[in-house]
Amino acid sequence: MKFAILGTGIMGRGWITQCAMTGHDVHCFDANPEILAGVATGCDKLSATVAKKFKIDDPDFVSNAARKITTYEDKGAFIEVAKGCDVFLEVIFEDIKLKCKVLADFLPQLSEKVVFWSNTSSLDINPMAEAGGRPQRSIITHGMNPVPLMPGVEIVPGDKTTAETVEFTRQTLLDMKKAPFLAPNIPGFWVNRLLVPQMLDAVRLLEQGKIQVEDGDIGLHTSLGHPQGTFKLHDFVTAPTMLRVALQMYQASNDPRMYPPLTLMRMVKNGEFGASTGQGFYDWSDPRNPKARDLSHYVIGTAEDMLDQLK
Ligand SMILES: NC(=O)c1ccc[n+]([C@@H]2O[C@H](COP(=O)([O-])OP(=O)(O)OC[C@H]3O[C@@H](n4cnc5c(N)ncnc54)[C@H](O)[C@@H]3O)[C@@H](O)[C@H]2O)c1
Repeated sequence: MKFAILGTGIMGRGWITQCAMTGHDVHCFDANPEILAGVATGCDKLSATVAKKFKIDDPDFVSNAARKITTYEDKGAFIEVAKGCDVFLEVIFEDIKLKCKVLADFLPQLSEKVVFWSNTSSLDINPMAEAGGRPQRSIITHGMNPVPLMPGVEIVPGDKTTAETVEFTRQTLLDMKKAPFLAPNIPGFWVNRLLVPQMLDAVRLLEQGKIQVEDGDIGLHTSLGHPQGTFKLHDFVTAPTMLRVALQMYQASNDPRMYPPLTLMRMVKNGEFGASTGQGFYDWSDPRNPKARDLSHYVIGTAEDMLDQLK
């Protein structure tokens, strides 16, 4: 099969690698040429990690996957090749206005047959499906980070998505060795509807001085079996993506628990994005051995603490 992938950041690279490793041709484009230039190295690294983790005894595994990937610096050339693809997958910033604008530009230029997938982690499929002009063949396929290592994919049909599109998507994902499951079209779907409020609560408890990074993550790892704790996960997701996801979920739900905490905004402002920038809740100078940071400068306490100070 042929995939056209728009957006080659963290999640885009995950999907590109997954498609390529499972024998599909992948064509990709990103508005940021620097990000696009890092695709080959990033995807090689991901497929090498997969080969190591799953003990794949094939010396050509990484190079075979790499051969399946083509990047396009020219948007027009990407659209030309996307016209003949089976699936168009968008993996751009979590911003409904941006996604709708971009989809209204790209999708009407493609063949009617192309199925549209979105990797959004929280947004309503219906406005995107309408913006792209093919609501019957539009569906969310929300993969987890890193895609080649995490099997789960939420599939979220919209109001007009046909049963045929759902079945095509489910079967294609199964063939790609993913574990698709149906989730509701509500802000955050199933996984993030439960996870995001928990992650934001963790940041609020940290800024209230109730928990420290290392204790918080050890607690969730050893008590609930989380592979990494909430703060490390936050660093992998990155602060800008958390900010976008939380804000979109807040705007869609009006639930104050979803509103991005001040500390998250400060970290974005200070460029402390997480693993990708070297600083987040952890110091990632040595990526194999991240060290929990002392974030006491972000601790403001509770309203009750403030009142005590006023006495
Ligand atoms: N980071 C995660 O852990 C995670 C997990 C699941 C889902 N998601 C979702 O995946 C999507 C992408 O997230 P990400 O973490 O990969 O973000 P990212 O910032 O790493 O990558 C987004 C990419 O989109 C590109 N882009 C933005 N506007 C564009 C445009 N108009 N045309 C072409 N390219 C454009 C950017 O240049 C960037 O490279 C979001 O919808 C996000 O919610 C993220």
